[in-house]
Amino acid sequence: MRVGVLGGGQLARMLAIAGERIGVATTCLDPAPDACAGQVAKHICAAWDDPGALDALAAASDVVTFEFENVPPASLERLAPRVTVRPSAEALRVSADRLAEKNLFRALGSRTAEFAAIAQPSDADSAARAVGAPAILKTRHSGYDGKGQRRIGDAGELASAWRAAGSVPCILEAMVPFRREVSIIAVRGLDGALAFYPLSENTHRDGILHIAVSRPGDPLQAPAEAVATRLMEKLGYVGVLAIEFFDVDGELLVNEFAPRVHNSGHWSIEGAETSQFENHLRAVLGMPLGSTAPTGCAAMVNFVGQMPDAAEVLRLPGARLHAYGKAPRPGRKLGHATVLDSDPARCGQLAAQLAGLA
Ligand SMILES: Nc1ncnc2c1ncn2[C@@H]1O[C@H](COP(=O)(O)OP(=O)(O)O)[C@@H](O)[C@H]1O
Ligand SMILES: [Mg+2]
Repeated sequence: MRVGVLGGGQLARMLAIAGERIGVATTCLDPAPDACAGQVAKHICAAWDDPGALDALAAASDVVTFEFENVPPASLERLAPRVTVRPSAEALRVSADRLAEKNLFRALGSRTAEFAAIAQPSDADSAARAVGAPAILKTRHSGYDGKGQRRIGDAGELASAWRAAGSVPCILEAMVPFRREVSIIAVRGLDGALAFYPLSENTHRDGILHIAVSRPGDPLQAPAEAVATRLMEKLGYVGVLAIEFFDVDGELLVNEFAPRVHNSGHWSIEGAETSQFENHLRAVLGMPLGSTAPTGCAAMVNFVGQMPDAAEVLRLPGARLHAYGKAPRPGRKLGHATVLDSDPARCGQLAAQLAGLA
């Protein structure tokens, strides 16, 4: 079978590697000549909205999927009559707009931070009153890895922060005093079958995921699965998705979701019977899902800006190194490593040693 991926970064690369093992050939479309998925998959090097390139991607694919949510709507319209696209355009639309996303979670009965929309200068006062301070101003569209966000300590800072954000549509969110951040990776098959990976506990550095630790048996597993089930069934979702939550005194507040494979699920390559990448391919290609059962505890550390010395990583017992083949650049995700252990404390120690190398 043949899958097309919009985007040629590390997520497309890991999809292609997973696909190669089960006989799925991958073609990616990415405007960067050195897109790292191009080292392991066919690469169409063209703009996201290049009609000829989109037609070529459709012709080379049984199904097209994507590795990021801000796909231009015109690209989806070009693809839609030519090839099956999964997940759906509706899932993309909602996840690419923080306001639509939060409204959907509320409508599904999930808790979120207090929030208000800001579309024009006169919205600032009422938003500040509704949400209070401290708060975070986020652009509705195109934010990732903490980009497009500004912390607001006092309501008086809001108007200038909004101008600094480019006066684009934003939401103001109350700052959540979370105990920890967790995410769930879930997958829904074409036949409606559901599967869930154990929750991952996530720590960020400079707005970018730094460490993800997955320990089976988290007390918030069942409520997180319930949120994911409602979302996937509402959207008729097909594929892998990730939902990020704040744990506030043992209660889940939904932050956001990503309609794709996710950095907090990379541990599943070695730490689960079927990785998130293989399960995404299985789902979008209409194949049976694989078991998401974990082998034990797993921890993943991201390498951002520069790679550590490979030998240092490989010296750690059982460490699995993934280098994405990308040129180093500040703030750029270049690779990750995963450690596994059945014992949570030992897994934590290995993770700390790995983090010391990042
Ligand atoms: N309402 C909030 N309260 C507290 N921290 C927040 C809030 N929103 C975001 N953050 C912090 O900022 C990080 C990035 O925000 P997020 O909404 O996940 O955007 P992105 O799309 O950039 O991942 C979160 O992982 C969390 O650490
Ligand atoms: Mg996030």
